[in-house]
Amino acid sequence: VVSSTFDYASNLFPLSTSAAGYTAIGAPSSATLDPTNALNGASLEKHKTLTYLNGLSLVVGLIIGSGIFSSPSQVNSNAGSPGASLLVWVIAGMLAWTGAASYAELGGAIPLNGGAQVYLSKIFGEWAGFLFTWDAVCVLKPGSTAIIAIIFGEYVVRAMVGPDAAHVSVWANKGAALVGLVIVTLINCISTKLGARTANVFMFLKFIALLGVTVMGIVVAVTGWTWDGKPNTEWKTRGWFEGTSTSVSNWAVALYAGLWAFDGWDNTNYVTGEFINPSRDLPRVIHTSLPLVILAYILANLSYFFVLPSSVIESSNTVAVAFGAKVLGPVGSMLLALIVAGSCFGALNASLFTSGRLVYAAGKEGYFPSVFGKIGFGNRTAVRLGSTRTGRSSRFAKGISALIADDAGLFFTPINAMLLNSTLCAIYIVVGEFSTLLTFYGVAGYTFYFLTVLGLIVLRVKEPQLERPYKTWITTPIIFCCVSIFLLSRAALADPFQTLLVVGFTVAGVPVYLWRVKRSRKRGGRRAAADSEKGVGWKFWRRWGRG
Ligand code: ARG
Repeated sequence: VVSSTFDYASNLFPLSTSAAGYTAIGAPSSATLDPTNALNGASLEKHKTLTYLNGLSLVVGLIIGSGIFSSPSQVNSNAGSPGASLLVWVIAGMLAWTGAASYAELGGAIPLNGGAQVYLSKIFGEWAGFLFTWDAVCVLKPGSTAIIAIIFGEYVVRAMVGPDAAHVSVWANKGAALVGLVIVTLINCISTKLGARTANVFMFLKFIALLGVTVMGIVVAVTGWTWDGKPNTEWKTRGWFEGTSTSVSNWAVALYAGLWAFDGWDNTNYVTGEFINPSRDLPRVIHTSLPLVILAYILANLSYFFVLPSSVIESSNTVAVAFGAKVLGPVGSMLLALIVAGSCFGALNASLFTSGRLVYAAGKEGYFPSVFGKIGFGNRTAVRLGSTRTGRSSRFAKGISALIADDAGLFFTPINAMLLNSTLCAIYIVVGEFSTLLTFYGVAGYTFYFLTVLGLIVLRVKEPQLERPYKTWITTPIIFCCVSIFLLSRAALADPFQTLLVVGFTVAGVPVYLWRVKRSRKRGGRRAAADSEKGVGWKFWRRWGRG
C-alpha cells in the first residue's frame, strides 16, 4: 500500500550534515539566531512556504517575459498570414500546456525540488538526471536567464533614450542587463518570501499590461483612432489566411518562436518540494496559468493585427514599441518599452528563483560541490530581524521582517547556489552571442523536455502502482512527444552544428558524472553503503516502487 504522507524529501535527501555550528554573518546588531534551523538541518524542503498563488506567479511570471512583445515578428514572417500566426500561437500554447500537464503528474508523484533532475534519475537512472543537471546548471538556466536579462537591458535603454536607441552601444544594454541581474539576485538571496512576493506583484502587472494592450487594440479597431491619423485597415480588407506559408520548415521556425514565448511552464516543478500542498496545487497552477496565458497571448496578437499592418509586425522585433507609438505616439512607445522591461524583470526574478534551487538540489545530490547545497552563508543559519524570543524588537524591525522575511528569518535561501547561477548568467550576458544562446536553449531544452515526458509514459508502464495524486490523459504526453520529435528533427536538419554543440556539451558531462557521482557513491559518499550503487531513486524505489 502506498501512503502519501511519506516524507520523500527527508528520505531522499538525508540531512545530517548541516546541523554543525552556526554563527550569523552580516547580521544586524539586534539579530538573534533561529535555533530551529540548525536542529532541523537547514533545508528548503523542510521549510515549506509556497502556496497556489506563488506557484501561479512563478509560472506566469516566467512565461510572460519578452516573447509576447517581440516574437510576433518571427511567427508572422514565417507563418505568412495573420490567421496562420494565430494558429501557431494556439499550437505553441497547447504544446506548452500538454508538457506542463505531464510535468504536473510527475511532480505530484515525486514531489521534490529539482524538476526533471529527479524525474529523469528515478525513471532512467542517475546518469540521466545528472546529464540534465549538467546542461541545465551550466548552460540552460543561466543562458536563458541571460537572454531575458539582455532583452531587459535593451528595453530599459530604449525607454530612456527613445527612438535613438538603435545607435546606443551594446554595452549600455549589457550594463543595464547586469544591473537588473544584480538587483534580482539580491532580492532572491534575502528571502524566499521576498522573491515570491516580487513574482506575485509582477504577475499582476503583466496581466494588466496585456489587458491594456488588448483594450487599446479593441479601441483602435472600433474607433479607427491612431496617433498618426492613419489607421491600419489591412485586417478588414486582407483575407486572414492569405499568404499562408506552405513550407514545413517555416512553420517549424514559427513554432519555435512561439514556444519561446510560452517557455517556462516547467518552472514550478523545480520547487515542488517547497509547496505546502504540491499534489493539490501543482495541477491547479498548470490548469489555470496556461489557459490564461494562451488567452492573453491570442488577444494581444489580435490587437497587434488591429493596429499594425503585417509588414510592420514582420519587420520589427520590438512589435510592442511600434504598437505603442502607433496608438499613443512617443509617449506610447516609451510606455510600452517600460512595460516590456518590467515584464522581463519579473521573468528574470522568476527564473532566478527556481534556477538557484536547481543548483541547490544539484549541490545536495553531490553532483556539484556541496557548498552549493547549503542554505544561507554555508554552515550558518538564517538571521532574524529583531529579537523575537525576548519580544523586545522594535516595531519597525518587526514590520520589515513581516514584509520581507520568512518564518526562518532573512537569508534562509540557497545563497551560494544563487550566486553560482548569477555569475554564470553574468558571463553569458557579457560574452554570449544572442542567437547561439537561443538556439542552444531550444534544442537542448526540448531534448530534455522530450525525455522527461517520455519518462512519464515509461513510468506508467514500469510502475503502474505508484501513487499519482494527479494523472493526466495518456494522450497528453503522447502529443507532446510527437511534436517535440518533429521540432527536434527539424532543428537537427536545419542547424547540424548547433545540434552537435548540444550533443558535445552533454557528452562532456559524462566524465564529470563518473568522477563526481560514480566515484563518490562507490566510496560510500554521503549516502549509506546500501544505497550508494543504486542512485538517487533507490530509497524511494525500495520503499514504494516495489511495495
Ligand atoms: N517565455 C519567456 C519569454 O517570453 C522565456 C522563458 C525562458 N525560459 C526559462 N526557463 N528561463 O521571455
